[in-house]
Amino acid sequence: MTDLKEFRENVAQISEIDEIILDPVKAEGIYVYNSDGRKFIDMLSGICVGNAGHRNPQVIKAIEKQIKDYLHVMVYGEFMQKPQLDYIKRLKEFLPKELTQIFYVNSGSEAIEGAIKAAKLYNHRKEIITYTNSYHGSTLGCVSMLSAKEFTECFQPLLPECHHIQFNTEKDLLKITDKTCCVVAETVSVGDGVKLPKNDYLKKLRKRCDETGTVLILDEIQTGFGRTGTLFAFEQYGFVPDILCIAKAMGGGLPIGAFIGKEAIMQRLNNGHPLIGHATTYGGNPVCLASALAQLNEVAKLLENERNNDNVLSIQQKGEIYRNKLKHKHIERVEGVGLFNAIYLKKDVDWKKVLISCFNNGIITGTHLFNANSLSIKPPLIITEEEIEESISKILKALDEI
Ligand SMILES: Cc1ncc(COP(=O)(O)O)c(C=O)c1O
Repeated sequence: MTDLKEFRENVAQISEIDEIILDPVKAEGIYVYNSDGRKFIDMLSGICVGNAGHRNPQVIKAIEKQIKDYLHVMVYGEFMQKPQLDYIKRLKEFLPKELTQIFYVNSGSEAIEGAIKAAKLYNHRKEIITYTNSYHGSTLGCVSMLSAKEFTECFQPLLPECHHIQFNTEKDLLKITDKTCCVVAETVSVGDGVKLPKNDYLKKLRKRCDETGTVLILDEIQTGFGRTGTLFAFEQYGFVPDILCIAKAMGGGLPIGAFIGKEAIMQRLNNGHPLIGHATTYGGNPVCLASALAQLNEVAKLLENERNNDNVLSIQQKGEIYRNKLKHKHIERVEGVGLFNAIYLKKDVDWKKVLISCFNNGIITGTHLFNANSLSIKPPLIITEEEIEESISKILKALDEI
């Protein structure tokens, strides 16, 4: 058993709730098992990572196979690592034909940073626009794009010329001009809950970027890999980004990210010196990519299976069960798409008490960064109908008990 005091003395923390302490000894499927014998349903999927389930057997098999060959060799172009090619060839079977080249990195933040650098090399502009209350990572570049001063002031000076538009607000699109280098957008906004695009907002955003020569960078770091019911959420909204950023579920439990863009943009990364592009030691690590390829195949199989079998519950239908059945006096509403949902608690409800009560009832969930009154309902996509019912009754009981 891990000692809490010793752990906190030695491992720096950014958040602590004393009543929620986990000492995981195993995670499999939708469950995380604790050292004291308790098991929890993971409604966070490790923050949208375990889409095909924790320790998916195919993912484990792929990792085992790759570690027998090699773990790490240099990742740059001189080394033609086959796992890197195998992955993008398979991924391109599902992507719009305009997205032709991939660049591998280590995380979501780094994918965003790399995409912005590619955009700057492409149109030589400075201004970056993001949604108000969006989060794209914790590196200083990504922190520069946060809208709330309380999170940026202590880290000044940051990148200049970072501005904001409100998600779903058409008139704000005029703030995107021929001075704007790139817009970093989300398909489904997740900063302060889960909010769906309305009235063809994303098509209008695409059009405005085209009119102004602005690079449209799409952050599908949370929404990717089946989370919203399609492999990528943007498939549901009739537009194609210039650069797509992925991470989290991509690796199936190992750390990897990537950005995939149009050829004309991606080729600008190659400038004769790695530092006038983007350099990374581990990006495109073969073990992570073996895992990622197995994860992609597992999610693709899940989506194909639900398309071909009327008696298989789809990811959308699974999400609908949550949206329909999570009714309680403390819940204002549940909003989302697929298994990407937020419970919005009523204003006077103490979210911390709800989190603790959920935990005591065997449910791991969490709040959204800019709205603590909204809780994540984002379980692994492999969750069964029976397990969904079990998780709903545990959440409702937890709410009864606060
Ligand atoms: C939407 C979104 N973008 C980017 C990131 C950053 O990803 P990472 O933590 O892998 O750097 C996150 C992480 O939570 C995220 O939710």
